[in-house]
Amino acid sequence: MVSIAVVGAGAWGKNHIRVFSEIPNVRLKYICDSDPSRLTQLQRFYPQPKMVKGISSILEDPEIKGIVIASSAVSHYPLAKESLLAGKDVLVEKPMAMRSEEAKEMVEIAEKKGRILMVGHLLVYHPVVDRLREMVRSGAMGKIYYIYTQRVNLGVIRQDENTLWSFAPHDLSVILYLIDEEPVAVTAHGESYIQKGIEDVVFVSLRFNDGKMANIHLSWLDPHKLRKVTIVGSEKMVVFDDMESSEKLKIYDKGVKNLSYDTYGEYLSLRFGDITIPNIKMVEPLRAEADHFIQCLESRKEPKTGGRDGLRVINILMAAQQSLKEKGVPVKIGQE
Ligand SMILES: NC(=O)c1ccc[n+]([C@@H]2O[C@H](COP(=O)([O-])OP(=O)(O)OC[C@H]3O[C@@H](n4cnc5c(N)ncnc54)[C@H](O)[C@@H]3O)[C@@H](O)[C@H]2O)c1
Repeated sequence: MVSIAVVGAGAWGKNHIRVFSEIPNVRLKYICDSDPSRLTQLQRFYPQPKMVKGISSILEDPEIKGIVIASSAVSHYPLAKESLLAGKDVLVEKPMAMRSEEAKEMVEIAEKKGRILMVGHLLVYHPVVDRLREMVRSGAMGKIYYIYTQRVNLGVIRQDENTLWSFAPHDLSVILYLIDEEPVAVTAHGESYIQKGIEDVVFVSLRFNDGKMANIHLSWLDPHKLRKVTIVGSEKMVVFDDMESSEKLKIYDKGVKNLSYDTYGEYLSLRFGDITIPNIKMVEPLRAEADHFIQCLESRKEPKTGGRDGLRVINILMAAQQSLKEKGVPVKIGQE
């Protein structure tokens, strides 16, 4: 049995509590939240775990191997740092920290102490994202031209982070996982319509060395709920729509067949092929993420979304935040 603790039992932490409770070789020994009312609500459904307001007793308990941190974004760095220093393996929610320096320090502590540091980049554990990666990596899509993602809805309106920090880690982690290349520059435009100084609508653009582009639309002030990734390649175009209940991935065999300008008429030769909807076996991404954390904890293997992947995302968020502040000026991404 692996004993673990979940810190932060809010809207999302509750899901971690549920999935980890379902894993047969895991014992959820502690649930921690600084707000006692959260603990009282959960006690009825989870009578076994100890309910604690602070993490000190968890850190002192030698039985605890892993700590899952799903508290507010600003508390990720101090809680994860303390946990790693106490010799625990850590799964920390996104964003792993609010500054590159903090994320870097977390990575360094984990490496020095030989601890697992995993970041909750949930979509990397989505079976459709794995299929997309296969398609991109195998060359089935041809040359990747551009990617755009839409993550918009009405609410949840956060007060300690803007839409960029709240939503973009999902899109950035997917883009980096798919193409495994660092963007060279980022621009971001946004506005704070609801709360002063907290951008609720943000448009982020990434530029890559070979001309590839990515665009990310983020909002919690939108009439639609969209969770979409569109990738346009020279051979195929794909749309991953996570709001669809079953047909989440559509592959369009569409493109431009001949870009030659030599023969009149040939340059506009468009290709309209079949649309394929592959049958992808679905698993709950959070369950896959939780299983992966336990496997890493036991095998001591680097997670699919390790601390260094989290740091790459934070570096882009920092550059995007700066661009946002400077009204869309392109900002180079800090090199690690
Ligand atoms: N991966 C995903 O898909 C996903 C989805 C939703 C939220 N999240 C992330 O999960 C985190 C939590 O989000 P949420 O919606 O549950 O927020 P929430 O506000 O509902 O819950 C946060 C909880 O953490 C507790 N908390 C704050 N500081 C603490 C501390 N120092 N020690 C112990 N408890 C503390 C709060 O009392 C609260 O109960 C955020 O970072 C968010 O970005 C991730």
